[in-house]
Amino acid sequence: MSEPLFELCSPRRLYVRTFGCQMNEYDSLQVLRQLTAQGYEVVEDMELADVIFLNTCSVRAKAEQKVHSFLGSLRRLKQANPDLKIIAGGCVAQQLGQKLLNRFDHLDMVIGTRAVNSVGKLLKQLIDKGSRGVFLGDEGNIDSCFDFGGLSSSPGVTASVTIMQGCNNHCAYCIVPSVRGAERSRRPEDILEEIRLLERAGVREVLLLGQNVNSYGRGLEEEINFSGLLRRIASQTGLARIRFTTSHPKDLTEDLMDCFTQLGQLCKFLHLPVQAGANGVLARMKRRYTREAYLEKVALLRRICPDIALSSDVIVGFPGETEEDFTKTMELIEEVRFDNIFSFCYSDRPNTRASGFEDKVEAHISARRLAQLQGRQAEISFAKNLLEVGKTREVLVEGASKASNGQMSGRTSQNRIVNFEAPQSSTGKIVEVKILEAYAHSLRGELIRGKTRDGDDGGLF
Ligand code: SAH
Ligand code: SF4
Ligand code: F3S
Repeated sequence: MSEPLFELCSPRRLYVRTFGCQMNEYDSLQVLRQLTAQGYEVVEDMELADVIFLNTCSVRAKAEQKVHSFLGSLRRLKQANPDLKIIAGGCVAQQLGQKLLNRFDHLDMVIGTRAVNSVGKLLKQLIDKGSRGVFLGDEGNIDSCFDFGGLSSSPGVTASVTIMQGCNNHCAYCIVPSVRGAERSRRPEDILEEIRLLERAGVREVLLLGQNVNSYGRGLEEEINFSGLLRRIASQTGLARIRFTTSHPKDLTEDLMDCFTQLGQLCKFLHLPVQAGANGVLARMKRRYTREAYLEKVALLRRICPDIALSSDVIVGFPGETEEDFTKTMELIEEVRFDNIFSFCYSDRPNTRASGFEDKVEAHISARRLAQLQGRQAEISFAKNLLEVGKTREVLVEGASKASNGQMSGRTSQNRIVNFEAPQSSTGKIVEVKILEAYAHSLRGELIRGKTRDGDDGGLF
């Protein structure tokens, strides 16, 4: 399937840069896998590369600007090395297509979100024929976007697996449905096969990815929903942990809530974007739930699974958002006390419904609201981290801590990062850690020796 393309010459050097969300990270990893299987060698320094693959994001104007300025900065490298091939993939590529190629004459190829699985073939064509081109793929071919081939690199302790592509929700502010296309679910057996492959390579935790995972299953031959998929993965694989993101509140069922207590492998963490606290704003965003419905679901979820941690996305300054509307958002985060939120100023995106709305909120007002929201949430997040001190938590050890202080790092089921002293060989194990100290974004703990959920501690502790 993956014949080496460059048997006779030295391996070409590939540099991949990813902007945007976990979907893009997943796609970049598939690009790396496909091209390394074809003989490419991955380099960390883009100055050394023969091929640069840029995976782009257009979710907010700022994200897109970053891509444009990065692409601009590559002109110098192309001038120094005219044989360098520069490829743009991802959501800006899909959105702008030929326009992107016209704008940057040093760009060789634009590959849309549905054509990225053909990157190996397209790159070979580019090298053989030398012609620049735009490839946006085929919306009709459901399998094409999932079909990347097998693993070739060692994936580590945790890995992502895409279970669906695209989105049908068309929230008024969001460009994702137009750049990722309509929702398509991947067949359960293909998901299981990829998970088993990852498990054989040592993966212990899988993050299931989709823009709206809890509508999984629509359009598949087999009748299965997202809870059904979770139950199947839990019973038919040996994974220690399963996570997923993102869920739309309107599709959060009691059946899915029950999974958090019924499936031992399912981490007690849910990212449930609320976006706004005022009903008028939610309706104009086309979110299809009310503040009350959201709060009811959170209350039910916490009754079913009291230990669950919650995170959310919030947009401030949506067109027409009044001071009173914003106060409703502040009250909502006060009431829910999320463990963490990701918050953004509204950004006009092309071809979205909201971009045509009147009453745009002035940038300085949105910025002030965002600062107020983030300031208060930082206090709440820290207070919640403080509540962890003194508890003993199971942690999946992911590897050496980023602080490079000789400590190891992992996450609790509730998705909190914990750093603690432990042997390197604990990587990939679930260990018990007593939490000693809380910081803004992480915890410090102490390994409880001799205890691991995996039973055999291999004489490590
Ligand atoms: N499918 C996911 C993620 C979508 S993009 C979901 O529905 O939650 C991630 C986040 O970016 C969104 O939740 C939203 O908060 C934010 N976002 C999307 N479009 C935006 C825009 N035009 N302006 C500001 N924030 C936006
Ligand atoms: Fe965008 Fe809404 Fe779909 Fe999320 S659910 S990707 S915010 S349209
Ligand atoms: Fe960005 Fe595309 Fe993800 S727009 S957020 S990279 S789906």
